Amino acid sequence: MKIDNIRRDFPVLRTRAFLDTASFCPYSVPVVKAIEHYLTFMSLAPSNTFEQFLLHRSPVEEAKKEAAELLNAKEKEIALINTTSQGMYTVANCLDWEKGNNVVTTDQTHPCCTITYMGLPGVELRLVKNVDGAYSLSDFEEMVDDDTKIITVCHTEWINGFTHDLKALRRVADDHGAYLMVDTVQSLGQLEVDVESTGLDFISCRCYKWQTGPLNGAILFVREELVEEFEPPFMGFRQLEELSLERGEGLRMWRMMGNQNPASHPIYSYENRDYAKTAARFEGPPIPAVDGWALNTALKYIRSIGIETIRKRNLKLSDYLIEGLLDIGCILNTPINEEKHRSGLLCYTTGSYESDYESVRTLNSMGVSVSLRYSAAEKGWREGMPHLGGIRVSTHFFNNEEDIDKLIELQKALLA
Ligand SMILES: Cc1ncc(COP(=O)(O)O)c(C=O)c1O
Repeated sequence: MKIDNIRRDFPVLRTRAFLDTASFCPYSVPVVKAIEHYLTFMSLAPSNTFEQFLLHRSPVEEAKKEAAELLNAKEKEIALINTTSQGMYTVANCLDWEKGNNVVTTDQTHPCCTITYMGLPGVELRLVKNVDGAYSLSDFEEMVDDDTKIITVCHTEWINGFTHDLKALRRVADDHGAYLMVDTVQSLGQLEVDVESTGLDFISCRCYKWQTGPLNGAILFVREELVEEFEPPFMGFRQLEELSLERGEGLRMWRMMGNQNPASHPIYSYENRDYAKTAARFEGPPIPAVDGWALNTALKYIRSIGIETIRKRNLKLSDYLIEGLLDIGCILNTPINEEKHRSGLLCYTTGSYESDYESVRTLNSMGVSVSLRYSAAEKGWREGMPHLGGIRVSTHFFNNEEDIDKLIELQKALLA
């Protein structure tokens, strides 16, 4: 990994110590080029509308392959959607609910992991409480019972970066016949997410953070055995096997019809309606092609560096950051004792919500990008005294020690 070349690919680093990937990763040069390429392509007159259509969607289909590789999944298990919430909503509305069922998540989880379930009548939402920012398996075991329909967690928590042990959560889910759904927004692109070895049922993940992708566009993973078990809650004609355009039976039908819409043929019958046999049946409103092109490029970029290389680099940078923060008297809100629970997302406090707020404001105005995040955990910001939260710093592969030095120097001056 040639860090100078990589830093050149992220122009934001020319002017800022950008340490806020957990919020949004500014577009890289390759991502911008992919978008420009798309616009140029679309501005050229098509020689054949259908061929143009296929070509403009082919990088989107390729992005699915990239996502599958990254997750060690099969291509047919991947749907490209628009947001994490859309994936959560899709899964929540596929499951068969009974009164008295419950959903287990954590007290700092992202709202997209709770909001969809809150609307389901008779379904209880159970929040596992953190202890000093961490979650123990025994606390999950206590919360999960035979009425638990699904455990839904953020693999890496968005407030303090605590990273869950997915294999262990799978065992807890299996003990009670529950599904396991994971939001990997804060982990995919910096940590290994392997659906095969962890046995996950569902993943939803918008890709504009650690994945360095475009603002719009998310991956929905549905385990192969579950795909045909569920009917999609959103329905569009492209989710039908015979009309899907880009793939399988749909593509064959279009070609057979001389590139005309198969649904316009007199023999087409709505009774033949069958959902796609892949996760594409869950796609609903399709991801705009321009975002698919950008996502394809971003995922290729991440894979070309390698997740293990990224993980090790982020950990090294994070160690450097921790040393600096402790040196100037800041308090860590991220548990760092066990490597398996760590990531490049770190949270610290200067002692109060007010001083954290002021620090974030000043740091950002002086060229250091970080964010302020507090959880709504029981003793949270509502009582005025933060229990869990503070200043969130992200160290991703393109950062270096100088970025961190700038943060520490300024934070030290603000504390003086
Ligand atoms: C853990 C996590 N999940 C999801 C999201 C975003 O959800 P959506 O894609 O539905 O906007 C964020 C954004 O901050 C996040 O940090």
